[in-house]
Amino acid sequence: MIMLLMLAALSGNGGKRSLWSGDHLGPEFDRVPPSRLWSIQLLNDVVEHKDGYTVGHCQRVRDYAQILGEALDLETERLGNLLIAAAFHDIGKIGVLGKILNKRGPLDHYEWHIIYMHPMLGRELWEGSVSRLPQVAQIIHQHHERWDGQGYPQELSGTDISIEARILQVADGYDAMRSDRPYRPALTEAKALQELRECAASQFDPEAAQVFIELVEGKKLQAA
Ligand SMILES: [Fe+2]
Repeated sequence: MIMLLMLAALSGNGGKRSLWSGDHLGPEFDRVPPSRLWSIQLLNDVVEHKDGYTVGHCQRVRDYAQILGEALDLETERLGNLLIAAAFHDIGKIGVLGKILNKRGPLDHYEWHIIYMHPMLGRELWEGSVSRLPQVAQIIHQHHERWDGQGYPQELSGTDISIEARILQVADGYDAMRSDRPYRPALTEAKALQELRECAASQFDPEAAQVFIELVEGKKLQAA
């Protein structure tokens, strides 16, 4: 599988749209060597396969984050950083065994500890590959924080979490709910929206969650 993915990356990523395309990326991004980006996208593809998501999770999260970020009037440079972080948010799972990621039952203490590490490993991987964009590393680091401070790894709360990370949490959470997971089938749209409503102001930024719900209900949220 890894060899196939490498070949796909080397031949233009198998025809997939690159995760860093778009008009919102700033001049710093233009200075990042493309080989670094292809390398990190290859790692990302491996994570997506081993994590048991349907392929395309990262692309959908990126698309949802873009639509929500624009609806919240995020300025262009911050939106660009958000889109990159959304595409690569789980890259730290490269350091987590697939049997832990896909475990059907509850995780034990050791397994949680390994999962807990992936935002930090993701940050370090990003900083080691694309040091020009430290804001992206910070968003990746914060993508499992929660509005109520019950997240990880830093237990930040409220607006101490960057707005980019709060948008990413909603986009990632919604796509996770709408995807088949090893321990449950995908939720319907109605059930996922109900979960978002119930988790607004606990897990999610309430404003970001509310705007996202309105986008879905208004049929304005279509992943590319
Ligand atoms: Fe994650």
